[in-house]
This record gives sequence, structure tokens and C-alpha cells, in this order.
Amino acid sequence: MRIVLGVGGGIAAYKVASLLRLFTEAGHDVTVIPTEASTRFVGTATWEALSGNPVSNSVFDDVHLVNHVRLGHEADLVVVAPATADLLAKAATGQAADLLTNTLLMAHGPVLFAPAMHTEMWQHPATRANVETLRTRGAAVLEPASGRLTGADSGPGRLPEPEAIFEAAMALVQGRTDYQLPLAGRTVTISAGGTREPLDPVRFLGNRSSGKQGVALAVAARNAGATVRLLAAHMDVPAPSGVEVVRVETALQLRAAALEAAADSDVFIMSAAVADFRPADVSDTKIKKRDDTADPVITLVRNPDILQELVERRNSQPAAVAAGQLIVGFAAETGDSEGDVLAYGEAKLQRKGCDLLVVNHVGTDKVFGQDSNSVVILSRAGSEPQEASGTKAEVSDAIISRISLELNRLSVN
Ligand code: CTP
Repeated sequence: MRIVLGVGGGIAAYKVASLLRLFTEAGHDVTVIPTEASTRFVGTATWEALSGNPVSNSVFDDVHLVNHVRLGHEADLVVVAPATADLLAKAATGQAADLLTNTLLMAHGPVLFAPAMHTEMWQHPATRANVETLRTRGAAVLEPASGRLTGADSGPGRLPEPEAIFEAAMALVQGRTDYQLPLAGRTVTISAGGTREPLDPVRFLGNRSSGKQGVALAVAARNAGATVRLLAAHMDVPAPSGVEVVRVETALQLRAAALEAAADSDVFIMSAAVADFRPADVSDTKIKKRDDTADPVITLVRNPDILQELVERRNSQPAAVAAGQLIVGFAAETGDSEGDVLAYGEAKLQRKGCDLLVVNHVGTDKVFGQDSNSVVILSRAGSEPQEASGTKAEVSDAIISRISLELNRLSVN
């Protein structure tokens, strides 16, 4: 496929280098057209090297090739990222002072704008009107992500992560109307991995969680346009790019990080394997074996139930605020003679009070550290249990789709 990638003059232009890589690695032929202003952030040499094509934004370069007409005509897709307030205004008013704006006027295929700017600019009536005009004319304008902007401010206006723009672009080319990123503007916090509860400076009580499911969920949420915060306990896998990572070790550290993160999270997913108990005493020095003393006894005390606390905290907020947050728990169950996996899951959902509970069937050879998974999603609202199975990435996509659906329901009610 032939893609024209227009780059606007915003700091987020650096992220577009990754987007270009995603396009070229998928086998597409990309011509980059940076605006004059954008070359102050990323130089044309970067775009030429990464795309393998010549780069210009002048209508007077290679005039014999009639680039100002040809590029737009031949493109199967035009993507503009970051689409600044200025570029959106120029596109909406049909200006044609440079190669990129000419190309936008000549485009025959789908056009996708991925805006990035400060919140006030994005919410300004002039920008709203320009976005409306472009959408009415058939262009796709993504909702920006919400979160930290260039300065100290935060709010809607961040460029969605490159993978998210890539997904939206592919959906648009396939003629899908659901190219809009389902979690755009949402903040999703995910806890992942297993906590480690220290006994002494060298030993701890841990568990088998690899963090793979939590990381796969972070990737799925990021690709769905969310601003993702990963509260990472011990993990065997690296954290993905494009998410904020907060490292924690113990259940108590995770609790503190979770309560802080909850304040601005639209969605909270507790996929971490949290130790239910921790050693009552942590020795400052290494515990030594001595032949003349009895075998040591480890006394355990209960850790707080973080999921339950998140639910209580949420429910104590004014109803309108509480209604805006979705809390998702995970349950690792084996089933036994007194109940099967689902029965235990239902009981846990009621006990913990979260909105959704993802139930895993675990055994020593199942789930932990594995790449595939099979889960049932239970809902407190009482809808039918939903099964999802496949790779942890596929299961995560199913969980994130279900979360998007539930969030839409919340905002309708
Ligand atoms: N969880 C938590 N804090 C804890 C223990 C668990 O927030 N101290 C969360 C997990 O992240 C998960 C959910 O609670 O989302 C279920 O965890 P699980 O260990 O299966 O349930 P338990 O409450 O420990 O119940 P039981 O041991 O009876 O199975």
C-alpha cells in the first residue's frame, strides 16, 4: 500500500518515527511530508533514512514529477500525525501553501488525522469547528489521548501511541467505521506480576506470576488508545513501550501505588498476583542456620486486599464520580470438591464487589508463565459469563473490548 505520512510541527513528531517503522515493517511504501515547522523537531534525514524515500515539503522540488498532484492521487492512505491545531485549520479551510496541504486536497483515499496539542487548543471552538468540518467531509479525526502534555499540564491532547494510530489506520483502510480508538481519552491502570514479600535482605516469599497477562493487557489498552499506567510487581517479561511504569515489590507498596493511581483512573485492572500474607517480621540481617537452635518458624500476617479497598474507595465517592470508574479483578481458581471454578469465581465477584471478574483456571502447568490462556469474564451487572481463549494477547483484546463496552454503558446510563 502507498501511504503518505504528513508530520505536523509539534513535539510529538518524534513519536511518528515509530509509526513510520510500523508502516514500513508491515511492507508499506511510505512518503513522509513534514511541515516546515516539524523539521525543527525531527529533521528530514530521519524521515529519509527510515522511509527509504526522498523527503520534501516544497511544491518546487522535482517539479517534473508533479508531486503536489501525484502524491495525493496515488496514495491509498494519508495519515497526518501529529495533526496540530494549525494543520487542522489549514486542512479545514482548504489551504494549499505547501506540499502537505496540496496533497490533502488531492487525496483520493482515506485520510486520517491524529491530533496532538494542548487541551485548551483542542477544546477551543475554532478547533472543534475545524474537526467537525473535516469529519463532515469524510476525513477520520482521532480523539487524542488524555494524560501528561509537554509542560506541567495534563488533559486530552496527547498523540495516541504509534501502535494505536497504526491500528486505527488499518481499520480505516479496511473500510471499518470503528476506526475510532475505543479507549481514547481514558486512563487505564493495570497491576501486573507477582509481589515479593521479604523475609530478610536476601529471601522473599513470591509466587509464579510472570506478568505476561498484565503486560498483554497493557499492550491491548495502549493499542485501543488509552493512556496506560502499569503498576509492575516482579515480572519475567519487559514492560511494553508507550506505557508509564511504576515499579513495586511488595503488596504494601502496590497498595500505596494503586490508591494513588486510582484517583485519575477510568479503569483499574488488578491482574497482579498479590501475596495474601507477608512475614510478620522482616530481619534486617540474613537469617543464619545454626545447629544449636530450633528450626525457624515464619509467622505470617494478612496483607490488605487491594482490590476490595479500591472498590470501597470508589463506592465512597459521590455517585456521579463513582459511576465513572470501572474496576476489574482477576481470580485464579483451581476448583475443589466443594465447588467448581465458576462457582468460586461468582462468590469472589460478590465478595470483592468489582464490576468484572476475569476467572482463570490455574494449576502448576496452567496459566502461570504460559503464552496462552482461557478465561471466563463474569459481570456483577449479571450478564451471561463470557468466555475468551487463545494467546494472552488475544484474551487481552477480548477483555479490553469488553471493558470498552462496559465503559460505554456507564456513560450512557
Ligand atoms: N488481590 C488484591 N489484594 C490481595 C489479594 C488479591 O487486590 N491482597 C486481587 C488480585 O489482584 C485479583 C483478585 O484480588 O484481582 C483475586 O485474587 P485471588 O488471589 O484469586 O483471591 P483471594 O482474595 O486471595 O481469594 P482466595 O485466596 O480465597 O482464592
